[in-house]
Amino acid sequence: MLYAAFRSIGAYAPKKILSNEDLSTMVDTSDEWITKRTGIKERRIAADNEYTSDLGVKAAELAIERSGLKKQEIDMIVCATISPDYFCMPSTATIISTKLGLNNITAFDISAACTGFVYILSIAKAFIESGMKKNVLIIGAEKLSSITDYSDRGTCILFGDGAGAAVISATDNKDEAIIDVHTGADGAYADLLMTPNGGSGSAHDSLNPEDTSCFMEMKGNETFKVAVRTLTKDVVEILKENNIDSKSINHFVPHQANYRIIKAVGDALKLREDQVVLTVEKYGNTSGASIPMAINDIYEKGTLKKGELMLLDAFGGGLTWGSALVPFSPLK
Ligand code: COA
Repeated sequence: MLYAAFRSIGAYAPKKILSNEDLSTMVDTSDEWITKRTGIKERRIAADNEYTSDLGVKAAELAIERSGLKKQEIDMIVCATISPDYFCMPSTATIISTKLGLNNITAFDISAACTGFVYILSIAKAFIESGMKKNVLIIGAEKLSSITDYSDRGTCILFGDGAGAAVISATDNKDEAIIDVHTGADGAYADLLMTPNGGSGSAHDSLNPEDTSCFMEMKGNETFKVAVRTLTKDVVEILKENNIDSKSINHFVPHQANYRIIKAVGDALKLREDQVVLTVEKYGNTSGASIPMAINDIYEKGTLKKGELMLLDAFGGGLTWGSALVPFSPLK
């Protein structure tokens, strides 16, 4: 029997910091308001010539190096992004594969917004367990600054840029295996969080050269309530189905959207503070990159140890949601 093991993690955050104080000079807001309502203090912004694929490559190089595998052993790349280098094609995953020097492997993107990393984890697991692939590189990479309207205080305070990557490999050792991944979606809530312009269903005027906006729009307050409800329900279900008590989770790694959302879910699960991984203060919401960036944070701090159990939990535009029970199983 083949299983999928979570071997390694890597991440990259662009150098430029956009602080709450910086934002308060751009829109009518304040550090106090943003901190109190979201827990965010600052976020990173990629340089003009730094594309989503560049962020993804930096995270991927670290993940490959830490996996102990040779780069050529990677046989598939899946990238989760809603801010690809190019709208429609080519996919960011194919650009990343070429930048990594891997030109003859399967590579594609998926779109599941902030749940992207949990979706690509489920894809890697399925390809590996079916025997189709052996070592899958999964990447959540976002240059959300390219689709953020910096005149809208309801959204621009939340989002930032970054990337995270992981190597998922085949193993016959069940103790190393990803235990379970849940994914779900409900398009009935599509209008809560969307980029209404630029696609075939858009209000975008393709004959007007000035109408090029592809910005995110969000009904923040409604999104908040659905997020807490959905995130809590999903983690309660995955724990119950796998007969795992929340006390035995070493690291709860939620999507980093808003501290108040994370706190509400953590409280519902009766988690201790030391179980909850938080990076929202320094990176804001980096959509598909947020969970792997948070895992990388505990890895680099030395608090993520071999064999420890992570519970991942995500929610995003679509709506989409997902959760996963993942032991950290490095080769070395
Ligand atoms: N600075 C100052 N005031 C702001 C503001 C800002 N950046 N953004 C909104 N406000 C104002 C509103 O205009 C409103 O003013 P009013 O009462 O005079 O009308 C007031 O603050 C409350 O607005 P509301 O939207 O109800 O605030 P909130 O407490 O819901 O916080 C969010 C707004 C966006 C921080 C919050 O709704 C949120 O985080 N939602 C979830 C977002 C999310 O996670 N999205 C991604 C999902 S993956």
